[in-house]
Formats: sequence, C-alpha cells, structure tokens
Amino acid sequence: MQNNRLKLIETTQDGSPTLRMDGNPDNLAYTEQMHYSTGAASETIYVYGEAIKKAQAFLKPSETHYLVVGLGLGYIEILIDLLTSGDFKQIVSFEKDEGLIENFSSWCALKKSDVHDHVINSLIDQLKINISIEKVKTQLKNKLQIYPALQQAQNVMPNKFNVICYDAFSSKMDSKLWEFHFLDQFIKEHSAPICVFASYSKTGALNRALKQNGFKLFLRKGFSTKRECTLAIKA
Ligand SMILES: C[S@@+](CC[C@H](N)C(=O)[O-])C[C@H]1O[C@@H](n2cnc3c(N)ncnc32)[C@H](O)[C@@H]1O
Repeated sequence: MQNNRLKLIETTQDGSPTLRMDGNPDNLAYTEQMHYSTGAASETIYVYGEAIKKAQAFLKPSETHYLVVGLGLGYIEILIDLLTSGDFKQIVSFEKDEGLIENFSSWCALKKSDVHDHVINSLIDQLKINISIEKVKTQLKNKLQIYPALQQAQNVMPNKFNVICYDAFSSKMDSKLWEFHFLDQFIKEHSAPICVFASYSKTGALNRALKQNGFKLFLRKGFSTKRECTLAIKA
C-alpha cells in the first residue's frame, strides 16, 4: 500500500503502523487516524483481546462467530486468529474503503504487503507467540468474509455473532453508526444469545442500546488517555 494524499501510513509509539484517512474526494474533512498514537497493536490487544478471551471462557471455539465493524488494516481479524490459534467458525468484517478490502484480501492470498506484515509482526511480538504467518493468512483467507460499508443494521446477512468488535471511526466521521436507533437494530439483529461486545469507545447511545438488548456492561478503563471503553456481555 502506498502513501498517498488520502491514506497515510504512520508509526505509533509501540512501533506498530496505523493509517490516517486524510480526506476523501467528496469530503476533505474525512480525516482521522485509525488508532491511538500510543500504539495501534497495544490498543487492539487491550480493547479487543479482552473480549476474545472472555468469549473463549464460555463458548466452544470451533462454533464461535466473530463480527468486526471496520477492517482497516486488519488488526482485529489477525488478533482473533492469533489468540484462537485459528480455531473459530468464521469472521465477518465490514469495511467502507474498497482499497483496504483489496489490500487485505490479497495479503491473505499470500501477495506481498509490507504494512500488513508489519501489523502481524507487531502483534506477534507483543503477544510473544511463535506462529507461522503463512498459516494465519491461509486461515483468514478461508474463514473471513469481508462486506462493504455497513449502512443499515440488517442489510447483509441474517447471521448472529458471539463476539462483536465495534471499531468504526468516531461519530465525527461516521455519525450514523453511533446513533441509538441504528445501534439498537444492529445489536438486535446480529447478537447471538451468548455474545461479547467490545468497542474502543463508550457512548450513552451505545450503552442504552446494549442494555436494551440484554447486555450487562462492565466498567473498563479506556486505552491510553481514554477514560472508558466498552465491554458488555449477554449470556
Ligand atoms: C478505527 S478504523 C478501524 C481500524 C481497524 N480495526 C484496524 O484494525 O486497523 C475504522 C474503519 O471503519 C471504516 N468504516 C467507515 N465507515 C464504515 C462503514 N459504514 N462500514 C464499515 N466500515 C466503515 C473506515 O474505512 C476504517 O477503515
């Protein structure tokens, strides 16, 4: 992936890469970094690693369905594979940017991508695990389905998921994805009877939507300087 006017690759403080959307042709104000500058890999492990581990405590790995909103550079999808050693049913991810989908898919299909190699190596270094990168790519190629932009709560598939990683940009960028009505419908449609929901963000609308759909919310400090993040469980 090349640096260009619209997407800039930057290195965060733990040495892992992130990407900054630097405006798009329709909206020059569409500008946001995908991760905290403190550390993209550390943030992903902190926020979503905890949800994956919680789910492992009470779900059979081979029957666990994961849903990710916001593929980006694929940190969460790779983390799921690493923490479960590839033992999961499926991952469904949504991503609005076609270039990001294409780059990640071709990396999984064993094409070269320095930034994705850097992402997986950063996660492996921090987790201190020994694993074949080719194996991770093949598992993702076989068990990850990537859909385009999430626009309506129930627009794509009828599936229910046991772990939902809600990693959309902030409401400044994608306001609809943070509205109560949207979240309520989305959670109703896609959360399985046993479900762990995590997000780097915590908002009143998200809290209400989770409670309304039977989730118990846990108090969890946010990553870095963020006051709180979201961890909620329905069981
Ligand atoms: C915070 S970043 C995600 C970072 C990512 N999880 C990673 O590991 O690199 C948010 C992502 O959501 C995507 N996005 C924005 N609107 C979206 C939508 N309506 N549906 C799906 N993805 C969307 C953005 O293009 C961006 O890649």
